[in-house]
Amino acid sequence: MFNPFMLVPCLICLYDILSMIFPLRFSWPLKILLILLIISGPAKMLLMRMTPSGFTIPELTRNIALILSAMFSFMIVAAILLIMKDIVQVFWRLFLHAKFPAHFASLAVLIIAAISTVYGVYQGTRVPEVVAHDVKIPGLAKSFDGLRVAMIVDIHVGSVNRRPFVESVVESVNALSPDVILIPGDFVDGRVKDRKYDLEPLKDLRAKFGVFAVTGNHEYYYDLHGWLETLTGFGIKFLHNEHAVISSGDSKLVIAGSLDPTSRNHDTERALENVPANVPVILMDHQPKFANNNAKLGVSLQVSGHTHGGQIPVVYQITRKLNGGFVRGWYDIDGMKLYVSPGTSQWDGFPMRLFDPSEISLFTLHAE
Ligand SMILES: [Fe+2]
Repeated sequence: MFNPFMLVPCLICLYDILSMIFPLRFSWPLKILLILLIISGPAKMLLMRMTPSGFTIPELTRNIALILSAMFSFMIVAAILLIMKDIVQVFWRLFLHAKFPAHFASLAVLIIAAISTVYGVYQGTRVPEVVAHDVKIPGLAKSFDGLRVAMIVDIHVGSVNRRPFVESVVESVNALSPDVILIPGDFVDGRVKDRKYDLEPLKDLRAKFGVFAVTGNHEYYYDLHGWLETLTGFGIKFLHNEHAVISSGDSKLVIAGSLDPTSRNHDTERALENVPANVPVILMDHQPKFANNNAKLGVSLQVSGHTHGGQIPVVYQITRKLNGGFVRGWYDIDGMKLYVSPGTSQWDGFPMRLFDPSEISLFTLHAE
């Protein structure tokens, strides 16, 4: 089915060929080989769009899917570098009145993009390290002081991240002996029948007070109800504009969750209806852009994902604009703490990261 969205990668691909491959002083057979490699990236995306599973092709082996996704990533990185090259070229001709060394400039772009892609895909596909955060929560009961809250988000299980990745993440999380585990969305890119086996290790997650989650936007691109049933069967408690209260003796702590706005039913106010008075609230909201509103509702700590930390420079700036200025790390909003995770992984169509490592987050809460 034709989707206008697909024109964008096709145009980027064309730009790469015209601005990078054509000026190279290579033989035509080598140029044609490079063109075919560049075309393979958007070709995978076109094929994905035409399959019923949408964002994934279950019949591809993981390695082939990874190579095609790496080529797509290469195409994007090369395009960013080519824009810079072409701007330099315009100024070169205007002010130096000299012939621009197009071959060497295109070769430099090709080499830098290739090295960046290899390194970036390695960074994007490795099992992330644990990043520890100490968080002061006003009004936190003494009995919750030292509470260990582990968070994974944006695991995006699909053609690249499969069962071994999920097993490793689960092992890392359980090794933290968390009291609470939070998963604020974007579990999967694919249908239940194709990806249930890959996500199954999530049923081994262990935490004293349980595993809580909300939907991300990607949950709505497939069989939402099938996935909710499957993941709930794995022992994950979804908070759909609702909250849970965890108790330690007489002390309480609220864990709340907002539905992703893709549901057209994002409602944090409803999630916080009837929360006990003077009890701190930890809110999962997949997308961080509602943080200013959430801060007015008395939330102590909001945790989000969705942005993947921008993944690479330039895309970082675009991601920040699209997400209300929140892209990665800690923000203080009128007394509410917001943490935007760079994600435990990212969408498998663009599996690369530069200067933006993925993470498994561990929050240790302290009374303030
Ligand atoms: Fe997302």
